[in-house]
Amino acid sequence: MLVLGIETSCDESSAALVRDGRELVSNVVSSQVDLHRAYGGVVPEIAARAHVETIVPVIKEAIGTVASKPDLVAVTVGPGLVGSLVVGVSAAKGLSWSWGVPLVGINHLEAHAFACALEGNQPEYPYLSLVVSGGHTLLAEVRGVDEMEIVGETLDDALGEAFDKVSRYLGLGYPGGPVIENLAGDGDPGAIRFPRPMISSGDYNFSLSGLKTAVIRYMEKVQREGSVPEARDVAASFQAAALEVVVKKTVRAATERGLGAVVMGGGVACNRALRGWMEEECGAAGLSLHCPSSGLCTDNGAMVAALGYMRYLKGYRSGLKADVSANLRLGEPVPDGT
Ligand code: KG4
Ligand code: ZN
Repeated sequence: MLVLGIETSCDESSAALVRDGRELVSNVVSSQVDLHRAYGGVVPEIAARAHVETIVPVIKEAIGTVASKPDLVAVTVGPGLVGSLVVGVSAAKGLSWSWGVPLVGINHLEAHAFACALEGNQPEYPYLSLVVSGGHTLLAEVRGVDEMEIVGETLDDALGEAFDKVSRYLGLGYPGGPVIENLAGDGDPGAIRFPRPMISSGDYNFSLSGLKTAVIRYMEKVQREGSVPEARDVAASFQAAALEVVVKKTVRAATERGLGAVVMGGGVACNRALRGWMEEECGAAGLSLHCPSSGLCTDNGAMVAALGYMRYLKGYRSGLKADVSANLRLGEPVPDGT
């Protein structure tokens, strides 16, 4: 079965063709990062307009020269930016209707939790999913294609957002994650002891805005005192603090809930320090770590197609009244417009 997956929840327009939920035929991603760079973050109005321009060329390229039309259309219906979601969902409805094939609405966060299936790397259920991106920091127990539960989440800033805000404050540019990671590679993670917020809290939630504030307070203090710290040491110390909280709480959640595997996803899961540290800690705790390659960690249509196929097999269908939901929660039924 050939599935077209469409993703427009934030600042990437993406379309992919996936055969039988596993075999990647194409995965086209058009990133808007250059459009948002000047603003230091995603501007919803600009994002929606850019999707309008790119969605058709992206879908055309994904379909390419495949002779037969897809048998199913899967599309992200939330969570995300409403204006951006509407563009993808409208395109998906048009194609579903004109081709006479079913439409399946997909929760973007759930798609991240299943992306590893595209590389034959999905563990047995149940497993723990960690989604770390610019908009989300979420731990979920995945017991099946339509059975999952939020275990912990950020109470304020997402992990990627913290990287972006610290980068902006330090004048390092956008998106902050890759810049900070590269700079941190040459720095000393022990140079400055930033706080590890909520690392010992009894739950599995996160709070990262205080860490960002601690970096700002530290910089103000040293500047008042007339000293200039090495940016690479600040980057490495911030990264170490942020990642330590996420790694420790993820491993603790998996262990305490009796889950044998951790699946990572989201843009921050591209961070090599996070991958390495998580690999070490999971190994020490006897957990297996499953992390898709970078192109399947960041937002993409392939993960939407993969989960669309699995949900279709379970009997899920969204009619042409399918609706978008900006604040859709993981595990919540997708809106079908009724
Ligand atoms: O998943 P994604 O492409 O888009 C959404 O936010 O949905 O993630 C983008 C986020 C940005 O905050 C970016 O700074 C962060 O992921 N990011 C990274 C790295 N690459 C991207 N954060 C840390 N290290 C990286 N290498
Ligand atoms: Zn995402």
